Amino acid sequence: MLDPTRTIREFAVEVPQATRLFEKLGIDYCCGGGKLLSEACTEANLSLDDVLRSLSVTDSQNESGAVDWKRADLADLIDHIVTKHHGYVKQELPRLDRLMNKVAAKHGQNHPELLRMQELFAALSTELTSHLMKEEQVLFPYVVQCERSLRESGRVHPPMFGTVRNPIHMMELEHDSAGDTLKEMRAISSGFTAPENGCFSFQTLYQGLREFEADLHQHIHLENNILFPRAIEFETRVHEQTVT
Ligand SMILES: [Fe+2]
Ligand SMILES: [Fe+2]
Repeated sequence: MLDPTRTIREFAVEVPQATRLFEKLGIDYCCGGGKLLSEACTEANLSLDDVLRSLSVTDSQNESGAVDWKRADLADLIDHIVTKHHGYVKQELPRLDRLMNKVAAKHGQNHPELLRMQELFAALSTELTSHLMKEEQVLFPYVVQCERSLRESGRVHPPMFGTVRNPIHMMELEHDSAGDTLKEMRAISSGFTAPENGCFSFQTLYQGLREFEADLHQHIHLENNILFPRAIEFETRVHEQTVT
């Protein structure tokens, strides 16, 4: 498995805890999962041998009791995504928004990058709010319906979006956009590092944004790398079942 010519996505899906290691090393495992591990290491200026060594340690530390989302019911995976990750985004967006406005109003003059941060965060917040709604109201219920009809050998009402590949493609583009916005925010804030003399709110804001970014990476990983490919496969099987 520890073959450097495999993609980041394959490692993220197959090796337990690999996403935690990638997060720490700054390797993009959600939107940039299609890259080879060797390429990603070169780009991030990391030694491929060191990363492979760390992955082999990680691989042997499979937490007993951890859910294997590659095999779990899709309804359970969706429930996990909505409860843990959508719940977190909905709770954090208003809190970070209040903090962002407060810090920008107080320190924007001495730290003009805060004004750009504020703009980017507002755009991210709007995009993510509508993104979560589309997943919860349109895409996820259809995927659950496909899974149920496979189990019960039933039929699925043809969705108004044609095939599940269409909303998935749209969701992936929106993930890329959110990922790019956070990358820009990270770049202009020196990796979400508040100035040493920054007030408590400044520190709290940047710490909150760092955590928000890490959670979003894990969230997008579960959707792009596990849920979406499985949803496409399930829909195909439903069609085959209907034809035969
Ligand atoms: Fe989501
Ligand atoms: Fe999503």
